[in-house]
Amino acid sequence: MTLPTRPLRLDGSGRTDRAMASLIGVVALYRRLSGMSGRRRPPVATVARDLPLVVDEVRREADGVAGLRLVHERGAPLPRWRPGAHIDLSPRPGLVRQYSLCGDPADRSAYRVGVRSLGEGSAAVHALEKGARVTARGPRNAFPFVASPAYLFVAGGIGITPILPMVRQAAAAGADWRLVYTGRDEASMPFLEELSRIEALFPAERSSALSGDRVWIRPDTTYGIPASGAELLEGAPEGAPIYCCGPAPMIVGVRTDAALRASGPVFFERFSPPPIVGGEPFRVALARSGRVLDVPADRTTLDLLRETVPGIAYSCRQGFCGTCEVPTVTGDRVRICVEREPVSLDL
Ligand code: FES
Repeated sequence: MTLPTRPLRLDGSGRTDRAMASLIGVVALYRRLSGMSGRRRPPVATVARDLPLVVDEVRREADGVAGLRLVHERGAPLPRWRPGAHIDLSPRPGLVRQYSLCGDPADRSAYRVGVRSLGEGSAAVHALEKGARVTARGPRNAFPFVASPAYLFVAGGIGITPILPMVRQAAAAGADWRLVYTGRDEASMPFLEELSRIEALFPAERSSALSGDRVWIRPDTTYGIPASGAELLEGAPEGAPIYCCGPAPMIVGVRTDAALRASGPVFFERFSPPPIVGGEPFRVALARSGRVLDVPADRTTLDLLRETVPGIAYSCRQGFCGTCEVPTVTGDRVRICVEREPVSLDL
């Protein structure tokens, strides 16, 4: 579409028309934001090889949250990524966990991740010190950021990590945006300073479709728990996409209320696998050991194998990273975190 550079009156008189000026502004903004959709940029390659990285910096970002800056061991530029991407990080051999990239996609000298101490994988990451060597695969993006003139971001706790680069990019592109960031208490919520700097640089305009401040920090200690979906969606502009990352109840609340109020599309990323609903029990044979596992309706083969096979590798537990793939006796490979058919594994 070719747009006039100077807005014309809709009645053809040639004088500036405010409605037309707004329309042109919105389309121009949309075009600028469309740069994020990838049509004009070289595609981000999925890296299917190991990246040798070195821990360049370890920071304490909040209570129980470590921030790591990772660089290539030879100082080489790192593969490109876009907001929403993650890497599969192996802090030690045999252990792989996924972490969202939370730094600046334009900075190819380093990746930044924020890791809350929650279990074996994150404990291993927290034990890393400056100079430690780690490997990573990726980046991959299962939480893609779409072009839009307005956004609502909803983050819970460490769920801020994929949201942070989205906020930066939306702000830099001139989009109208608002972030609701929930957490147990402020001391446990990483990147608060960084967010306040972004908000100061890109304050909400009076004409904003979103009311109030750009960023609402919502610690449970101040506002009570749990935040309802309706509360989190307050002020969401009509039709704007909603990006949500955090604990499962928060995502369910946002999705449910968004559906009720027919708001914009909800894009979400979970920390943990969704509950199994309507599952059936099934049987898995371990051909080498001759054992048989009876997998109940509400559990996975991975759950059972984790209890009996030490060191079984897994990461996302949602079926998309491939870390838990194991061979079957027929030579196929199955992802045991999601596969729910009887199978004979070559284990
Ligand atoms: S753990 Fe990621 S696919 Fe199973």
